[in-house]
Amino acid sequence: MSFAGKSVLITGAASGIGLACANAFANLGACVTMVDVNGEGLADKAGELVAQGFSVATVVADIASPEACNVIVSKAVASFGRLDIAINNAGIPTHIGGMFEDFPVAEWRRVIDVNLNGLFYAMRAEVPALKAAGGGAIVNTASVASMVAAKGMAAYVASKHGVAGLTKAAALDLIEHGIRVNAVCPGFVDTGMTAPLKADPAAFEALAATTPIGRMAKAEEIANAIVWLASDASSYAVGQLMALDGGVVLS
Ligand code: NAI
Repeated sequence: MSFAGKSVLITGAASGIGLACANAFANLGACVTMVDVNGEGLADKAGELVAQGFSVATVVADIASPEACNVIVSKAVASFGRLDIAINNAGIPTHIGGMFEDFPVAEWRRVIDVNLNGLFYAMRAEVPALKAAGGGAIVNTASVASMVAAKGMAAYVASKHGVAGLTKAAALDLIEHGIRVNAVCPGFVDTGMTAPLKADPAAFEALAATTPIGRMAKAEEIANAIVWLASDASSYAVGQLMALDGGVVLS
């Protein structure tokens, strides 16, 4: 599989699944625009790819800003002349647990702003550039929390169910323009997002063991599926939510 000559935009690219995507696409020949709100992490990780000779641009941006999302697309087009593929992956967790009625409104707003509104702002900005390129692919990072609920995580579950609906709706709206929209729905992945859980190693291992596959995913295992959904190999996949969860949603 080759992405030579393709311009790929990835949000949340300084860590975890987004970083694994940046590595994968760069190694397959793509020009990669890496976006993240964490400027230091982004410079560090992008610098490693540039040092290996890959074509990489960076934008420090918060996707919860519609204006910032316009800027990231402009940067990708200015850097590489076009945009063919967008990976909308940036997201944040919520704290887990507590009483439903005590959930802080500010936290609810921030989770929805980043995970759902931000993803919409990014897609809205990407579409004209993808159309100008004659079509392309969008892959969103949803979650198993797009398919089932989890206790004590209402904001995150609501945001990711929103991503599932947005993915399907956008897929219908955009397929006539040659833009395929799909999403991955990861389960439990070893990334920056789940790193705090490692503070209690026994609980962490016990959590991983609750998955039918008996372990958590590596970020690369999710990136591999994202690459496939972004490639012509998945040319008939439209509006799909691909569970990559080691079997969690089966039972
Ligand atoms: P991570 O924390 O390792 O990476 C997320 C990256 O997104 C970070 O570099 C962070 O700085 C960036 N980011 C956060 N908010 C941003 C914003 N407003 N604007 C721009 N960049 C922002 O986490 P991970 O696991 O790689 O997360 C990627 C996606 O995968 C998220 O959407 C997350 O919800 C989803 N996911 C993760 C799972 C897991 O178990 N790790 C499970 C299911 C879904």
